[in-house]
Amino acid sequence: MFDLNKIRNDFPILKEKIYGKNLVYLDNAATTHKPQVVIDAIVEAYTKFNSNIHRGNHFLSEICTQKYEQARQIVQKYINAVSSKEIIFTKGATESINLVANSFASFLNKDDEVIVSAMEHHANLVPWHILSNNKGIKLKIIPMNSNFELDLTQFENLFTAKTKLVSVVHISNTLGTINPIEKIIKTAHSKAVPVLIDAAQSIQHKKIDVQKLNCDFLAFSGHKIYAETGIGVLYGKQSMLEKMSPYQGGGDMIKDVSYNSTEYADLPFKFEAGTSNYVGAYSLGKAIEYVENIGIENIELYEKELFEYAFDKLSKIEGIDIYAASKENRISSLSFNVKGVHHLDIGTMLDKFGIAIRTGTHCTQPLVNSFGQTGTVRASFAFYNTFEEIDFFIESLKKVIEMFK
Ligand SMILES: Cc1ncc(COP(=O)(O)O)c(C=O)c1O
Repeated sequence: MFDLNKIRNDFPILKEKIYGKNLVYLDNAATTHKPQVVIDAIVEAYTKFNSNIHRGNHFLSEICTQKYEQARQIVQKYINAVSSKEIIFTKGATESINLVANSFASFLNKDDEVIVSAMEHHANLVPWHILSNNKGIKLKIIPMNSNFELDLTQFENLFTAKTKLVSVVHISNTLGTINPIEKIIKTAHSKAVPVLIDAAQSIQHKKIDVQKLNCDFLAFSGHKIYAETGIGVLYGKQSMLEKMSPYQGGGDMIKDVSYNSTEYADLPFKFEAGTSNYVGAYSLGKAIEYVENIGIENIELYEKELFEYAFDKLSKIEGIDIYAASKENRISSLSFNVKGVHHLDIGTMLDKFGIAIRTGTHCTQPLVNSFGQTGTVRASFAFYNTFEEIDFFIESLKKVIEMFK
């Protein structure tokens, strides 16, 4: 489908040895590695045009501003937003969701409701808990069924006259489940409730078209789509963002300031207080171009094959509980436990084979606790992973299980 050797060569870290062994990196849901073009872009930015953006009228500042704004347009095109005014740079998905929660706070009254799902990352729970503590809002949860998928049979019943927002994860970072967000968005809109999609685990695996989806907000992090860490995006429909107040104040987000008051800048700058991570934004533009050159559809197809291959192999090992009833409708993250062996022990031992996986609750503690566990072992795949790496992971896992018998 694509030249895997060439792709692997693009990622210098994949050549690193871990305890003298080849690195097998299966922790891509936590963060992804960077292709050379992204690393070069970061060096290029600091070597050739580093300067504060939107402020100077000198040459370097103008170049740096252009690069930053071009990156915004690259993001806009990638997710098919109507306008670059709808693309707000943040430091990551967490900040993007916090921005919405904080701005929405002024529209919310005590007992107003926000609907989330049973699969949310803490980044899409805790900001609402803060609002719950500060404003008395209530959270309602879309439950999960025994297939580790959202149970939408009761979804409509969760809405009341007090429902103000639905905020759901597109793909679960713990389970790899791809949630039916199209349906969720349609249902919410039929009740005139806006929807935020947490795309932290989908932007790197699937084509996202915000106009087709018709979501009101979409949040993601650059570091999970092969860009630098510390840059992220909040997409918001212009009509929504116009209504919202800024979440932080400071330089660059103003039109006019007196000692007594501030007039805010127009979108998108209204939401970008202080010096933005312009190098991060530049790296994000380069990362998206890199992904587009390979083709996000190609990436999705290949990653689905990797997931299915790993799922089939893992299912054949005795004593494994996989937190996925089937391999359908899933991508990248595969969570499991081995009966009688602590998840942390599996992770610690696999590390000695050069295999990087994650153990614990993956910032989805309520979800993991809901299936009676304190943690899981999670392998998560990216398009630079190979079937041979999965074979090695499975063989190493079998050895680890033997050691604990
Ligand atoms: C589904 C999901 N949402 C939100 C986040 C938060 O992303 P960040 O820590 O980059 O802000 C993550 C990170 O793992 C995630 O997986």
